[in-house]
Amino acid sequence: MAIKSSVLAAYLALFGSTLAQSVDGSQYNNPTAGPPASFFAAATTVPVAALQSAAAKASTAAKDATYPINSDGGAPKVTIHGDWSSFSEGAAFVWVADMDVDCDGLDYKCKGNPDGQPGTNFGALAAYEVPFFVIPDKFGTTYQNILPGNNVGAVICNGKMFYGIYGDSDGDTPQAIGEASWLMARTCFPNDDLNGNSGHGAVDVTYILFTGSDAVLPSSALNKNYVTNFSTLRSMGDKLITALAKNLNLVSGGGSSTSTTLTTQVSTTTSSGTGSTGTSCSWAGHCIGSSCSSDSDCSDNLVCTSGKCASSGSSGGSSGGSCSWAGHCAGASCSSGDDCSDALVCSSGKCASA
Ligand SMILES: *[C@@H]1O[C@H](CO)[C@@H](O)[C@H](O)[C@H]1NC(C)=O
Repeated sequence: MAIKSSVLAAYLALFGSTLAQSVDGSQYNNPTAGPPASFFAAATTVPVAALQSAAAKASTAAKDATYPINSDGGAPKVTIHGDWSSFSEGAAFVWVADMDVDCDGLDYKCKGNPDGQPGTNFGALAAYEVPFFVIPDKFGTTYQNILPGNNVGAVICNGKMFYGIYGDSDGDTPQAIGEASWLMARTCFPNDDLNGNSGHGAVDVTYILFTGSDAVLPSSALNKNYVTNFSTLRSMGDKLITALAKNLNLVSGGGSSTSTTLTTQVSTTTSSGTGSTGTSCSWAGHCIGSSCSSDSDCSDNLVCTSGKCASSGSSGGSSGGSCSWAGHCAGASCSSGDDCSDALVCSSGKCASA
């Protein structure tokens, strides 16, 4: 042990922080002494707040995309959105959910986790060492072509962004959404003593999951149990999130091809805006007068009234803000009851009371 530490110290002295983040994961497999946040935090140049608000505006449901945040009857439901899934670089699914703690894998006996399993979907990850997050099993199966496993993703929690991997899926009945490893959850919310039986309940965590085999953390940086090179995780994360932010015009440098992609995306989801779209709101193209199918197509506090974004003060049936799942209240577009909040049903494409 002494020899090992001094060798490590010599490496640190010689090569600095980059090499230091190529690690022997077992040394960090500890519930209170896991990898420091800096090992998997986004670069300071990433526009985290702008990405978070753009994520909240995503409105196109992916397939098999709506899940409750836990198994309690009447639990709020969350939809995974595919608005960002067709970019050529930085393509991703995005959703906003709570964050329960998953310890499946090597550390399945973590505090508060009597029902843990010794494996994770693509190995037996160490929840104390690996920042991973969990998706509903059905979603993973539906999209397994573009989500082969260990895909890099970004989580925005508590105003910060961390990178992780899609390491496990939830196969409970019903399948729930909004779960991440012990390390990820406790790094996001360091003061809350989160554990297997105590998660972060508020639906305010943004999950961005990059698709495609190019987004998969390679075996040079990950083994069955551990992330072995956090520099790879961070550099892939920074590269993918920057490409995404450029596609969304949140940072300069978006080329003409990416703008074209964005235009295509927006016109698909809003079915071609005809009216003036105004410029004085924080989401260009989604201001007063823009076409919309639900409140989430409209910027800021605007609501979707008769197919156009309008201020919520204006008369006319708004889609109501008074239900537990904003954007999915009475009047919001839906394709099934799963798209509607609480006890609402989907009737003629709109959420309505039963
Ligand atoms: C760790 O990852 C970085 C970034 O991908 C790479 O430059 C470095 O060579 C890797 N280190 C090792 C020891 O594999």
